[in-house]
Amino acid sequence: MNETPNAWKANQYDNLSNSQAHYESTGPEIWEQTEGKIDHLIAGVGTGGTICGAGRYLKEKKPGIQVFGIDTYGSVFKKYKETGVFDKHEIYPYVTEGIGEDFLPQNVDFTVIDHFEKVTDRDAAIYTREIVKQEGIWVGYSAGSAIAGMLQQRDRFREGETAVVIFHDHGTRYVGKMFNPDWMRTMGYEPLPGATARDLVKNKKVADVVGVQETDTVEQAVLRMSAHDFSQIAVLREQRIVGSLSETHVYAAMVKDPAIRKESVRSIMQKPFRYVDIETPISLLAPMITPQHPAVLVRDFPADKTYILTGYDVLAAL
Ligand SMILES: Cc1ncc(COP(=O)(O)O)c(C=O)c1O
Repeated sequence: MNETPNAWKANQYDNLSNSQAHYESTGPEIWEQTEGKIDHLIAGVGTGGTICGAGRYLKEKKPGIQVFGIDTYGSVFKKYKETGVFDKHEIYPYVTEGIGEDFLPQNVDFTVIDHFEKVTDRDAAIYTREIVKQEGIWVGYSAGSAIAGMLQQRDRFREGETAVVIFHDHGTRYVGKMFNPDWMRTMGYEPLPGATARDLVKNKKVADVVGVQETDTVEQAVLRMSAHDFSQIAVLREQRIVGSLSETHVYAAMVKDPAIRKESVRSIMQKPFRYVDIETPISLLAPMITPQHPAVLVRDFPADKTYILTGYDVLAAL
């Protein structure tokens, strides 16, 4: 930018022309097309430009309008709105595209958005496909988030009210994702009849994942594994899962170099186990557990709980 003449950075996150454009265009367009009959505005929040610009205009026209921002698990928005705390523990990778952030863009005006609703990657993918099936509108991932988020809040809407949901993009970018049945199965998103991971974790004695800190010694990890009778364990950095250790791997490392027992877990840890949604059908979850990947982490996003499932758990259910 400094080196290229006439170049400038749009900076859609912090340049308030973004929300201003929606204040001047998207807001009036919705007002005119609904003839002022709108009661609720629902849209995914990325930069915040769309919802805050349009929402500010619509609230000026009709102060009672409720503005619902759709957020994703792995983003900081909802917690910040509800508590005023920027919690870095809320941040982790997610699959949904276009919404949620790990910082607070200037275009997100928290006074315009009345409530944030979080939607899981799985629900967003399923509902994106449902919009195509039921309405014939070929839309993208964040549209599925928006519709799923609206349905999650159905109790807030009264009969006869008008809710406007913004679909941000079209489906062409997602041909290899939710419009590809193989991807839906590999991700564990395909809704199939029968039991789910939720049924498997229901009877687990340990209500949340037990791990060792990466700074603990290998010896401490072995003690913890044997105390719980685990053949694998998650490795944590504070509350975040950053790796794993399996019994066979620790055994091989200790045979090779007995002094390793005094080293930190970090020095020998393996890759973290894969996360799956708690609603994943068991028939899709079973193939994810292999000798190389002996366990998965089952995430109950709304309850903020993580369970570990091993081949034995799945075998018992099959
Ligand atoms: C696909 C998609 N959905 C939703 C959004 C969110 O819109 P906004 O950035 O105006 O909040 C974006 C933003 O770039 C997007 O690309």
